Amino acid sequence: MNFLDIGSCDAKGLGEILGYARAQLDPVLLGAGVALVFEKPSLRTRNSCEMATVSLGGHPVYINNAEVGFDVRESTEDIARTLAGYYKVIAARVFDHAVLERIAVSVNGYGFSPPVINLLSDRSHPCQAVADLLTISERFGGVAGVKIAYVGDSNNVALSLAQGALMLGAEIRIASPRAYSFDQSTKEVLSTLGSVHFSQDPNEAVAGADVVYTDTWTSMGQESQAGVRREAFLPTYQVDSQMMDLASSEAIFMHCLPAHRGEEVTEEVFESKASVVFEQAANRMPAFRGVLYACLAG
Ligand code: CP
Ligand code: NVA
Repeated sequence: MNFLDIGSCDAKGLGEILGYARAQLDPVLLGAGVALVFEKPSLRTRNSCEMATVSLGGHPVYINNAEVGFDVRESTEDIARTLAGYYKVIAARVFDHAVLERIAVSVNGYGFSPPVINLLSDRSHPCQAVADLLTISERFGGVAGVKIAYVGDSNNVALSLAQGALMLGAEIRIASPRAYSFDQSTKEVLSTLGSVHFSQDPNEAVAGADVVYTDTWTSMGQESQAGVRREAFLPTYQVDSQMMDLASSEAIFMHCLPAHRGEEVTEEVFESKASVVFEQAANRMPAFRGVLYACLAG
């Protein structure tokens, strides 16, 4: 099984991945390698994926953009088919989601078919969502019925979180400025998955929520838009203590990191008791373990 988006599996499959995360598992990668190809920087993803690979008996190899750029020295298809000769799994962080799809097609079409895993693209960040859902599940004893408010840019992290949360029966409210909301077709697809509400009003989204989630206003690859984006989001979409006070008294604050204090979140909220961001970061490791196991199990 490839894991290019949360939708690569169904609700049952997603539940199984969460179950594998902390389970005693066979060392399914014994004597085998996992290629971790990064077009963009990473702290959490690279390190959690390396250690998850080791925990399943495997050997991770980090490959960076300076050395092997997709379609730079050679084509994405030639890189993918070359890596497929050495590795049991190919995982990549890319600017353009279509590159991941091309990797998956090329390795499947040539006899060797290592699973292909998305480590973040412009479209989605499914491995992050698995860690987020693991964190929510462990905090609330499950995901079904949990009220999640996502405040900020309707980006890759928001899409994977919304898909996974809805598949597992959570309720999600997403508040973004109009220009940074999901397009109509994405909203319609998400609406078919469960209880989702879109608005431009963060206070309405956060009211009574169990989880308040935000992410950077400027994702990797959008750096030239940083000033315009800051103006569009500040101050309405900054998660501060007043906004947190509208949520449930037991609400947690989540962020995939890296965070920008004074932009999408205040220092006070980031460092508050409600903040579970480092638990969430730590959960990237068991989450990727679950993803690897599920992909290798088929
Ligand atoms: N959350 C996340 O993916 O972090 P990195 O960019 O550091 O991998
Ligand atoms: N939305 C952010 C997430 C970083 C982990 C980005 O794509 O840069």
